[in-house]
Amino acid sequence: MQSPDPLVVVLATGGTIAGLADKAGDNTGYRAGQVGIAELLAALPASMRLRVEAEQVAQIDSKDADFAFWQRLAQRVAAQLARAEVRGVVVTHGTDTLEETAYLLHRVLAPAKPVVLSAAMRPANALSADGPQNLLDALALAAHADARGVLATMAGRVFSAPGLRKAHSRRLDALDAGDAGPLGRIDDGRLSRWRPWPEAEPLGLAAVARAPAQWPRVEIVLSHAGADGAVVDALLAQPPRVAGLIVAGTGNGTIHQRLEAALRRALAAGVAVRRSTRCAGGGVVDGVGDGVGDGVGAGGAGAADDALPSAGELTPVQARIELLLELLAAGRTR
Ligand code: SIN
Repeated sequence: MQSPDPLVVVLATGGTIAGLADKAGDNTGYRAGQVGIAELLAALPASMRLRVEAEQVAQIDSKDADFAFWQRLAQRVAAQLARAEVRGVVVTHGTDTLEETAYLLHRVLAPAKPVVLSAAMRPANALSADGPQNLLDALALAAHADARGVLATMAGRVFSAPGLRKAHSRRLDALDAGDAGPLGRIDDGRLSRWRPWPEAEPLGLAAVARAPAQWPRVEIVLSHAGADGAVVDALLAQPPRVAGLIVAGTGNGTIHQRLEAALRRALAAGVAVRRSTRCAGGGVVDGVGDGVGDGVGAGGAGAADDALPSAGELTPVQARIELLLELLAAGRTR
């Protein structure tokens, strides 16, 4: 008996791929998250040998993603992956916070099947919309017999979740992966792969089971000329109390001395602090002896003479998710 075509489930969340402009030809002034997934799928050619099911999980502009959205999406992805007949999952998503959602799903689920985030830079009714081809590529990748882990594809390039970033505000190939580069390419459904599939020890859905209103507050602050730390002091003073801070430092994670003093006050007050970089690539490479006292456990003060703990390769927004998950695991709440 012939085996059935692979089954891919599309979980739709909105974004520009589902966006509508008032005028065709308007590629920047449009509303994200307007077109339902059934309509987007109906516009694709029926040439692929696969079965597709779809579910509208949300319909948002991804700039408005929040903890409740992440929790629900992680639960829906896990439920679909648990079905033996499902080969892979596609998540349609806005590009603006795609790197955050991808990293959260990677750390929580680290799936043995592919979960492919798909997006577009032009709305669905643009003169030459990029969404349909990107969605076709994502379906092919999710149906690929070897694919695994949380991936993203856009403009023919395939990325792993870790290190993923939106690197351009308007170009069609807006996604990038820093020094690591893409995992591969997909052309007419054929995958060329240059790097290993993403792997991690999954934390499991329990890591994000707490009521979203209780998730600890983790903020990102930027080091820049004249940064005086007033933002950090304000965050410490204002409820709900901040539990974690990511500093997007200059260069290899250096910090203005006045901002660093404020961050050390926060660390001494039990706030977990991580040092990342505002540079587009490179991450932070620690010096020998750096990074003691991470502030996640009780107390949390690091030795004052040492550099603040670094976030390593992680971008500031992915470092925020890593710290959020650490704090959740440590039982920290709002
Ligand atoms: C969004 O992130 O939802 C809007 C922008 C985009 O998808 O490119």
